[in-house]
This record gives sequence, C-alpha cells and structure tokens, in this order.
Amino acid sequence: MSAVVTYLDVAATTRVDPRVADVVHHWMTEDFGNAGSRTHEFGARAKKAVQEARTFLAGTVGAKTEEVIFTSGATESNNIALLGMAPHGEKSGRKHIITSAIEHKAVIEPLLHLRDARGFEVDFLEPGPSGRVSKEAVMERVRPDTLLVSLMHVNNETGVIQPVAELAEELRQTPTFLHVDAAQGYGKVAQDLKAPIDLISISGHKIGAPKGVGALVTRRRGWDKVPLEPIMFGGGQERKLRPGTLAVPLIMGLYEAARIFQENRSQWESDARHMRERLLAALEKTRFQINGDADQSVPHILNVTFVGLNAEALIVRIKDQVAVATGSACTSASYTPSHVLTAMGLPHDVATNGLRFSWFPGQVADFDPEGLAETIAHMQPGAA
Ligand SMILES: Cc1ncc(COP(=O)(O)O)c(C=O)c1O
Repeated sequence: MSAVVTYLDVAATTRVDPRVADVVHHWMTEDFGNAGSRTHEFGARAKKAVQEARTFLAGTVGAKTEEVIFTSGATESNNIALLGMAPHGEKSGRKHIITSAIEHKAVIEPLLHLRDARGFEVDFLEPGPSGRVSKEAVMERVRPDTLLVSLMHVNNETGVIQPVAELAEELRQTPTFLHVDAAQGYGKVAQDLKAPIDLISISGHKIGAPKGVGALVTRRRGWDKVPLEPIMFGGGQERKLRPGTLAVPLIMGLYEAARIFQENRSQWESDARHMRERLLAALEKTRFQINGDADQSVPHILNVTFVGLNAEALIVRIKDQVAVATGSACTSASYTPSHVLTAMGLPHDVATNGLRFSWFPGQVADFDPEGLAETIAHMQPGAA
C-alpha cells in the first residue's frame, strides 16, 4: 500500500508556489544584479524590481512604499522592531512594554532580553480559554510610561485572530506604539493590517514564498517616523535598519506570493473553510475538544486535543496519513506542554496533547478525513 501523506502543517511552513519558484529562478539566473549596483543596467533592473515589490507590499497593508523594509523573515522583523525601539524607551524613560503570553518565541525572547538585560518591565497578558487577548485588557495596562504593545495578529498554534485593528485605533490616541507579529495572518486576514499599526512583521514562507524572506512595515504617525534605531550595522541598505545586500530573488518571490494571495484570497478563504468543515465532520467519530474560540479563528488552522490520547503517540500512529504538529514547530523538539495552551489556562493534559492541523486548500486534494478519523477513533479508550 503506498501511503499518500497529506501535509497539514502550513502554519510551520508552506510549499513554495511553483509560480513563485519561477520568479525566484528568474531573478537568480537571468536578472541577477545587485540592487545596490549603481554603474550598470543589472543593478538598475534589480533596484527597480525591488521598489515595485516594496510598493506592492506597502499597498497590501495600506502603507507607503518607503515604510517597508525587507528582512529575512518575521523573526528578524520582530527583533528589529522590539530591540530597535528600546533606545527610544531608554532615552524617554518609557520602559514599560505590554505583550501576551501566547506570542511566538520570536517576540517573547527579545522581550525577555529587554527585561533581563536592559531593565524593561514587560507584562505578559494571558487570554483565557478563548485564546483571544481582549483590547480592554491591554488598554487597562497602558500607562504614561508604556513604550510599546506587541500583540500577534493570528496565533500560530490555535489560529485565533487577535483584536489588533481595534487596538491600533485606540493606541493611536496615545503615545504608545503598537507592534504586530503578522507572520500567520498576513495575506490571509487582509483588512486588519490596514489599521494604523506602527510596526508589522511579515514572513514569506507562510504564504508560499521561500524561507528566508520577510518584511517589516514601519508606519509613520503623520510626519513622525517610528523612533527605531538599527540593531545591525553595515552598508546602509533599507534605511540603515536592515543593512546587507538585498535578497532580490527572495524579495521578488515574496512579492509574487503576496500577489497570488491577494488575487485569490476570498476563494482561498471559502475553500479553507470547506476543508475545515469536512475535517470537523469526520472527527465527529472521535472524542475531542477544540482549543481556542473557533468563531474567532482563521479557517485554515485547527487545534484539538483528543480525549485520552497522547499527542506524540498519535502523531506517530497517523504519520502515514497526515503530517501535523504539536504546538509550534520551534518547540516541538521538546516534550513540554504548549506555552500557548497553558497561558489559556487549559489543564496540563489538554495543553500537553494539543494537535495542530493547518492546510492550504489547494494542496489537500488527496486528503481522506474519514480515514484519519477512523484511525484516531480506534486509538481512543473504549473504542471497539
Ligand atoms: C507567529 C509567528 N511569529 C514568528 C514566526 C517566525 O517567522 P520566520 O520563520 O519568518 O522567522 C513564526 C513562524 O513560525 C510565527 O508563527
């Protein structure tokens, strides 16, 4: 029997769209110039293309061309945003930061660094079982010395959408800046990111672009730039905020992936929802609970705990059918309860045994949800 394993782990990374791969290939092998070369056509073409990509990406979040800088991904964007704001906090005496306990490590770790090495006070808000941090809970904590709020757009483990747009509108009335890690939401939940968010982190490989490319949006407040300082030094590219030779092929790949997503987003969303319904209908055979508020979730991520089943054992059992994850990929090497599910107040065994299914609807043609549900139901205590 030749098993077809369905990839249900797009929250970890996606297959590069073949159209994107063609574009990347072109900018690697034909138009391979350095966007910083000023003395010939090769450089000029690369520079022009990057500017076009920049303008497009800016448009997708309602920003201006010059407000986008290209990076290697959301981890780097988060670090530039969070560590880059620290000098302003130190100079102005505003050393309080609010974030959530369900952020990705790429936000939590830089903030722990600011707390432990540079004397910042960081509040980690817990969302409760819904997995959604309320705008009110954030606003209650905002003080005159609050430099920054950092709240993710879509949680990578539960798919729950956070109220970043409403928060942006409120924080605009205060001196506190808002950073949003939009690694999971960019391209998929389009409208939110057009809100007046000061700093947005974007990752290419969550939308069908290659790994190793992303962007940081640094939106002005009127005439005022976000007071970011560089954390790396070099040739002065990207307004000195991200020095280093621009990865033109990857940037063009990100552009193409974002363009494809924009063009197909509503179809993608309804197809993703359809797949969710199929999966949930099949899982009726099993006993499970959904982790996080299903009504506030993106359609392509589903986090469930199956009653009485150990997630690691289950993954081994179903690995010839589907590729899924426990918690986030970055912590799945260690067998600890998910920090996200724990921060939601879920019991230890639920938080340890959460399973994340995530899919792109065009890539699950061979998926057999009934077969999967059958396997799981047979493993559950009391099954025939
Ligand atoms: C919410 C979130 N933030 C940041 C990252 C890191 O993004 P990148 O791989 O582009 O550095 C991820 C990737 O898993 C993520 O899900």
